[in-house]
Amino acid sequence: MRASSDVAYLSRALKAPRVREVASRLAERAREEGWDYEVYLAAVLAEEVAGRESHGGEARVKAARFPQTKTLDDFDFSFQRSVKRQSIAHLAQLDFLAERKNVIFLGPPGTGKTHLSIALGVQAARRGHRVAFATAHEWVLALGAAKRAGRLESELERLGRIPLIVVDEVGYIPFDPEAAALFFALVSSRYERSSLIVSSNKTFSAWAEIFGDPVAVAALVDRLVHHAEVVVLRGESYRLKGKGKEVMGSEAAT
Ligand SMILES: Nc1ncnc2c1ncn2[C@@H]1O[C@H](COP(=O)(O)OP(=O)(O)OP(=O)(O)O)[C@@H](O)[C@H]1O
Ligand SMILES: [Mg+2]
Repeated sequence: MRASSDVAYLSRALKAPRVREVASRLAERAREEGWDYEVYLAAVLAEEVAGRESHGGEARVKAARFPQTKTLDDFDFSFQRSVKRQSIAHLAQLDFLAERKNVIFLGPPGTGKTHLSIALGVQAARRGHRVAFATAHEWVLALGAAKRAGRLESELERLGRIPLIVVDEVGYIPFDPEAAALFFALVSSRYERSSLIVSSNKTFSAWAEIFGDPVAVAALVDRLVHHAEVVVLRGESYRLKGKGKEVMGSEAAT
């Protein structure tokens, strides 16, 4: 009995709560199954490590500020046929993060761009990487505020230390020249240093309209796609799935 209160005290002192939770249960198993001391110690420590990793993972998912939690398991590849399950599964192995590459999702509304961006972001967070999610409009507002406070450079540097930044919805809201310059600063500050996931409803050829400056757009797209996986989604909106007639009117259904 003395030993178990020692374990309770010591695990508190070590800030290792799982050790206390599992120590006696695993000790029982160890006695029943005749484990060596080392096997028992490793089993207890492994529980503590797993507890910390999953806890940290959920904390990182929260810190990323995803608008919802989506995973690849909820994605219906039989509805979205323009992308192969295999290629998304490959992205989910996160080699692109290690290689500091970008992932770009292009496609019309409701085809799964945000869903897939979140799913990859959640995966990265659970695997131990810091992630930050916002729409293009929100990123530009945040960078504009940093600029006005005279700390744009330090903000870009801080963001540069986050290995994955997700920029959703490039193209729904056109950028004024200042916004375009801030977006350019974000992309170029991360170029070959840290990854971006970017999604847009417009193809690159239509980006000049969003940014209003074809020369700057060419330079931006160049940096963005130099090391990138570009995934083009096609087809109907999942939001309208099975609602053709009522929602779109009878012409759309014919
Ligand atoms: N293939 C799919 N399987 C399951 N759910 C899907 C699929 N595609 C889209 N969805 C769901 O449909 C909704 C719309 O998808 P999503 O937000 O990813 O679209 P989007 O391409 O980002 O569209 P928008 O350009 O309007 O932002 C979401 O709730 C998403 O989870
Ligand atoms: Mg979206």
